[in-house]
Amino acid sequence: MPLRKLSDLEKSKLQGKKVLMRVDFNVPLKDGIIADDSRIRKTLPTITYLLENGAALVLMSHLGRPKGKIIEELRLDPIAKRLSELLKKPVQKMNDCIGEDVRNAKKNLQPGEIMLLENTRFYLPETENLRPFAAELASECDMFVQEAFGTIHRAHASTEGVAHYLPSMKGFLVEKEVDILTSTFKNPEHPLTLVIGGAKIDTKIGIIHNFLSIADNILIGGGLANTLLFAKDLEVGGSLCEKDKLKIAQRILMDAGEQRCKIYLPRDVVVAKSEEDASTLRNIPVDQIAVGEKIFDIGEKSRENYAAVIKNSKMVIWNGPMGLFENPLFANGTRKIAEAMRDSEAKTIIGGGDSVEALAQFGISEESYTHVSTGGGAMLEFLEGKVLPGLVVLKEQVEM
Ligand code: 3PG
Repeated sequence: MPLRKLSDLEKSKLQGKKVLMRVDFNVPLKDGIIADDSRIRKTLPTITYLLENGAALVLMSHLGRPKGKIIEELRLDPIAKRLSELLKKPVQKMNDCIGEDVRNAKKNLQPGEIMLLENTRFYLPETENLRPFAAELASECDMFVQEAFGTIHRAHASTEGVAHYLPSMKGFLVEKEVDILTSTFKNPEHPLTLVIGGAKIDTKIGIIHNFLSIADNILIGGGLANTLLFAKDLEVGGSLCEKDKLKIAQRILMDAGEQRCKIYLPRDVVVAKSEEDASTLRNIPVDQIAVGEKIFDIGEKSRENYAAVIKNSKMVIWNGPMGLFENPLFANGTRKIAEAMRDSEAKTIIGGGDSVEALAQFGISEESYTHVSTGGGAMLEFLEGKVLPGLVVLKEQVEM
């Protein structure tokens, strides 16, 4: 059964409706300042469309991982403020996401007005996906729009549970993300290169395994590469490395040997005694790392090598930085990937909060790429071919 989408719904059906919309406003916040508001900006077309067509809009989102506790720094007030600036209209910010006050405020919300509920993860029943909590979130609303692509891989009350109570459909952003990623998966263009970085092997193992039979090249950097170098018996000094994941890393290397896909690991790396100690920085081959040194970036030769592979590709998918890009001394690997993708003629797809933050840091516009996803883990799970709870639930057609 095809999933319902907002773009298929007659505009007239929105008039006077109270629309509950899950967004992913889990944005990077530093001292209450939003470091990157792209997840907010990308929902504006849907918000404006709903309001202009006579709906009253109730937005809900999580922020961080408060694990059922109220954490003042994780309240959504700075987000409501930013949204209000972008929309140039008031956004009613609630101090809770459930309860009598919220129910009354929803009741009184008029067509063309918008409200933002408080962080849904201040309640444990959110992540436990408890039905009474989902029913309470859905109360006083007529329909549900799923616009939180970044959280669509979570089976939570606000992403999955509410859809059991209301007629539900994909918003414009989710529709676009799903269409682009589906076409990538169904019609891959070759040579296809996956660039994968970041700290942890667990979150990346699924996509690496899946792409061993799909991709032509997998370029690896970040802490993930350190763990694989360690699995090849190389000394990684005091680098970020998941030594307890040795078996998983060995398995990847073994499986890769049986496939035609080529796995690239750094040949050289940028090391230092510590992140703060620039005087100890060296660019060295991977077999010359001393015990007291740490890897902070891929080296110069690796950067050139990875860029050449990207240049010869027809499709490139990237998730995760190559090093500690927040420190300019160790940003060159990540920058080179971003620039090589920007300059290539390939279809280019980028996902993951860190990669998107890196683009902003380098001053490279998202327009330089075919698609920059709002999903990190969600994009990876989509490309792994996993079932995404916030998407499949839209198949359950509660009548309008
Ligand atoms: C993300 O930033 O990847 C999403 O908002 C999901 O957040 P989570 O990993 O805390 O569920």
